[in-house]
Amino acid sequence: MMTISTLTQVEYNRLKPQIFEIFLSQSSYLSHSSEEQLGYFNKWVELYHSKWPDWFFVAIQDNMVLGYVCACPNSVDALPAISFTSYHLFKDYYEKLKLHFHINVKLGQTGSGIGSRMLQHLKMVSLQKQVENCHIITSEHEKNVEFYLKNGFTIVGTQSLGKHKLLLMALDLGLSLPSQIDKNLQS
Ligand SMILES: CC(C)(COP(=O)(O)OP(=O)(O)OC[C@H]1O[C@@H](n2cnc3c(N)ncnc32)[C@H](O)[C@@H]1OP(=O)(O)O)[C@@H](O)C(=O)NCCC(=O)NCCS
Repeated sequence: MMTISTLTQVEYNRLKPQIFEIFLSQSSYLSHSSEEQLGYFNKWVELYHSKWPDWFFVAIQDNMVLGYVCACPNSVDALPAISFTSYHLFKDYYEKLKLHFHINVKLGQTGSGIGSRMLQHLKMVSLQKQVENCHIITSEHEKNVEFYLKNGFTIVGTQSLGKHKLLLMALDLGLSLPSQIDKNLQS
């Protein structure tokens, strides 16, 4: 059975090689040096576990990591800590859009509902903690746009970065819905 949970520092250290592998295989950094790859991992993943461990969720089955979500519950407060250009381009939205996250499913396991289940988990925890909405940044032609649209996100902003058209996609969690979300989690 697959479980989705937070990790202690000891568990995180034990599972880090698997998390790193998922991050790398789903990134565009495969051809970079190992030093650069580690630098990107630190920015996109490690920072989140060290600063917001309660918002770092890992999907595990038989000791194998199938995916992870790392989130930051207050995107305004995190601006100095996060250095992605794309993140800063949308900074004017963060007074209203609080929580942002990154999600990745292990290569070869995509398309079987793991991402949607991790998203449901993130929604449930967000509602418990009274977080009203969540958002991500992606690019126009990414396959994941469809994933977010299917999960109820809408495009709330766009920006150009080089030849990419970046999309800010957000989901209003509607704080009156926890029983529905709990029901989805049990299915
Ligand atoms: C996007 C992602 C988290 C979705 O999780 P998932 O477990 O694959 O998705 P689910 O099975 O819950 O949902 C299926 C939908 O996700 C989308 N999807 C499936 N495979 C995908 C892939 N390799 N990349 C992006 N989206 C994918 C499709 O829209 C799919 O719908 P369909 O089956 O009707 O075609 C996952 O596919 C992934 O890690 N992709 C690569 C990295 C990425 O894009 N991360 C998000 C960065 S913003």
